[in-house]
Amino acid sequence: MAAKIFALSNQKGGVGKTTTAFNLARAAVAKDLRVLVVDADPQGNVSTITVKDPLDPDAIDLADVLTARTGVTAAEAIVPGLWEGLSVLPSSDRLAQVRDELVTTGAGREARLREALAPVLDDFDVILIDCAPSLDLITLNALTAADRVVIVANASLFSANGIARLRETIDTVERYYNTRLAIAGVIINQYEATTNHAKHWHAELDAHIQPLLTPEIPKHTWIREASEGGVGLDELGTRAGARLAEVYASYLDTIRRS
Ligand SMILES: Nc1ncnc2c1ncn2[C@@H]1O[C@H](COP(=O)(O)OP(=O)(O)O)[C@@H](O)[C@H]1O
Ligand SMILES: [Mg+2]
Repeated sequence: MAAKIFALSNQKGGVGKTTTAFNLARAAVAKDLRVLVVDADPQGNVSTITVKDPLDPDAIDLADVLTARTGVTAAEAIVPGLWEGLSVLPSSDRLAQVRDELVTTGAGREARLREALAPVLDDFDVILIDCAPSLDLITLNALTAADRVVIVANASLFSANGIARLRETIDTVERYYNTRLAIAGVIINQYEATTNHAKHWHAELDAHIQPLLTPEIPKHTWIREASEGGVGLDELGTRAGARLAEVYASYLDTIRRS
């Protein structure tokens, strides 16, 4: 069966898109699924934490796949990931140049990534596209390629404010470029359940976007340290880590069924 493609999106930076991509990828390989992580952010964060071997700065990557200047295929740019079953289509800051190139490109520019991924769909069960913190043409490519959007948000004023714009963008992509696009779920990350502030913005998100996935992901330094160190939560050897790994496993089940 062809892979189901998820775009992890929110134009706000620092909410946890990359961390979520990492943990969902881990949850997927733990279920023996074949996973591809696509780095659609010129910052290259998810590439850094998910690749098996450090990337050669001159190596081909997603920028070469999306540009009209070369004939590089996705298969040629995909590299092994950190765990068995994981592959990565990495990016570098050269993706920013391609983003600018796309601005002056004509019809079809939103569908470059979808076309590039088509030949490898049968090689994977799950494809996770880690989006940049913006609603630019690379993100439009991610949403056009995706079957589902996974919104990652924080229960805060600035996260809630951006949701309406994100929804408009998703609606626009659905109308013009990708009629099958739908929201698989909203993951609330860095949640501080005991603060009134967080409870307020949680209710605000709940009123404006659905479905919220439960339970929320708490804010803990060890969560950051695990992903930044390339360690799965289930590999930490702690009860809290194992419990949180189960939460990501349940998220994965939910979004795959969506
Ligand atoms: N639940 C969490 N608890 C603690 N730190 C987190 C959590 N989620 C993400 N972080 C940290 O917050 C920062 C931003 O997260 P990141 O995933 O890079 O966000 P984004 O991709 O949306 O910009 C990173 O340093 C990351 O390790
Ligand atoms: Mg990121």
